[in-house]
Amino acid sequence: MPVHNLSTANLINSLPKAELHLHIEGTLEPELMMALAAKHQVTLPYSTIDDVRLAYNFDNLQSFLDLYYLGASVLRDEDDFYRLMWDYLCKCKEENVVHVEMMFDPQTHTERGIDFAVFMAGFTRAMAQAEKEWGQSSLLIMSFLRHLSERNAFDTLTAAAPYLPMITAVGLDSSELGNPPEKFTRVFAKAKELGLMRVAHAGEEGPPEYIWSALHDLDVHRIDHGVRSVEDGALMKELVSRQMPLTVCPLSNIKLCVFDHMNEHNLLTLLEHGLMVTVNADDPSYFGGYLNDNYHALAAHLPINKQHIKTLASNSFKASFLSEEKKSHWLNQISNFDAD
Ligand code: ADE
Ligand code: ZN
Repeated sequence: MPVHNLSTANLINSLPKAELHLHIEGTLEPELMMALAAKHQVTLPYSTIDDVRLAYNFDNLQSFLDLYYLGASVLRDEDDFYRLMWDYLCKCKEENVVHVEMMFDPQTHTERGIDFAVFMAGFTRAMAQAEKEWGQSSLLIMSFLRHLSERNAFDTLTAAAPYLPMITAVGLDSSELGNPPEKFTRVFAKAKELGLMRVAHAGEEGPPEYIWSALHDLDVHRIDHGVRSVEDGALMKELVSRQMPLTVCPLSNIKLCVFDHMNEHNLLTLLEHGLMVTVNADDPSYFGGYLNDNYHALAAHLPINKQHIKTLASNSFKASFLSEEKKSHWLNQISNFDAD
């Protein structure tokens, strides 16, 4: 019997949710960026925090990535990575994001001479503390930068060897166009051999063929974004029959001009075709909102009802790497919320 009867906005805020598509480097808030730039004497092309926010006007994925890598250049020591992770996990607590599967980009740091030991220690210290203090559940996805070579990705996988017990999955991100998933077929096969789960960005800016390639060549468990799947009927059927999760990021898609306006977003179309759609924040400090803001933006601009919201929250657990027991626990909790 449902026990909570809430408005749509309260339902969004109150439901337990999982977040499955979140770049930890994309949670770097301008305040922390400026503080760390001062701490390490890094010169940024911004004088004030307002300047930083004003610069966040993107035409496409690449124009965002240029600023994202620039921002990440202030992350230098273990404490910086701890602080970044801690701030995000506190946000999870505030938003009832009870489980999170976070991507990190090792090459963004190792290319600057910062070792795995530095960022892994900072990340895992914050994750352990959040788990201890309020039971926050979290895990890590090591993402390869697809604009770099296959060799570089293999070297990264080798350098990660001592940390694999702390890493659940590998992912694939950065500049999509011109860097199809098949470029990393052998790296993903090696990751699978090592017992790692697999996800990949595909069909954000890239064509449906990239989604097919992520399925066939990388043997992924989830597609990150995947909104361009609607362009290919056979692909839609395949995604439905596999119940292949799509980790859709509405505010990101608007900021990066994948859709012109939220009322043109195809999330509801995907959901109503029977796809396993989830809602996520991607890079919240760059795109104007954390997870609940993404749900609120959808509810404000699309004909979304409370049942849709419950389905999206339920999908976030179904599509996660949690155990069946933990999934059942959270699905049960969600069923206690009224959708009338
Ligand atoms: N890296 C961080 N955010 C990304 C996105 N939305 N797409 C590709 N690479 C990314
Ligand atoms: Zn992403």
